[in-house]
Amino acid sequence: MTEEPERTGFDWENRFAADDTPWERQELHPGMLAWMRAGELEPGNRVIIPGCGRSPELAFLAGCGLDVTGADLSPTALAFQRQALDAAGLDATLLEGDVLAHRPDKPYDRVYEQTFLCAIPPRLRVDYERAMYDWLKPGGHFLALFMQKDVRGGPPYGCALDAMHDLFPAERWVWPDDDSFIPWPHPDLNGKPELAGVLVRR
Ligand SMILES: C[S@@+](CC[C@H](N)C(=O)[O-])C[C@H]1O[C@@H](n2cnc3c(N)ncnc32)[C@H](O)[C@@H]1O
Repeated sequence: MTEEPERTGFDWENRFAADDTPWERQELHPGMLAWMRAGELEPGNRVIIPGCGRSPELAFLAGCGLDVTGADLSPTALAFQRQALDAAGLDATLLEGDVLAHRPDKPYDRVYEQTFLCAIPPRLRVDYERAMYDWLKPGGHFLALFMQKDVRGGPPYGCALDAMHDLFPAERWVWPDDDSFIPWPHPDLNGKPELAGVLVRR
C-alpha cells in the first residue's frame, strides 16, 4: 500500500488558511465538559493543549480560571486563538512551533489531548510520550482522547488502545481500566469515536 506523505507544518498552516478543517467539532468537546464536571480540570490548574489549532476549549478553560498554554505550528490558528482570547478579555500563553520541542520552566498539572496525537506521524510518538511525561508533575493527569480508526483519512493516525498501552508503559503511567474509557463519536469524521480516559503520570 502506498503511504500518504506526512503532513508538514506548511500543510497544517494551509489547511487553516483555507478553512479546510474537518476535525473541528464546532462545539466544546463533550468529553472535556464531562471532565470539568468531574473536577478533572479546576481553576488554577496549569494545563497545556498541544496542537490546539483553533479549538474553543482553550478560551473556555482560560475563562474557567485555568492557567492555559496552547501550542501549535500554525500562525493562523494561533492568531485565531489570540483574537478569541482578546474578544473575551482573557489571557493564555500561546506557543508557536514544534510543541514536542517545548521544555517548560514549570511542570503542568494537566495535559489536554484532543486530536493531536492522531495527527502526528507515528515515528514521533515516542517523543510525544516523553514530552507528556517530562511536562507533567508527578501525579499530573494526561487527559487523553484517543482517536479510534483503522484506515487512513481524517486525522490520519488511529490510536488503538493496545498501541497506547505500549506507548504509555505502566511503569511510567497509571492506567484506568480499559472498560472505563468513554467513547465520544466525532460529529464530522463519520462518527469515529475518541476514547476518553485519564492516565496519571507516576
Ligand atoms: C487535527 S488538528 C487538531 C487541532 C485541535 N486540537 C482541534 O481539536 O481542533 C492537529 C493540530 O496539530 C498541529 N500540529 C501538528 N504537528 C504539530 C507539532 N509538531 N507541534 C505543534 N502543533 C502541531 C496542527 O497545526 C493542527 O492544529
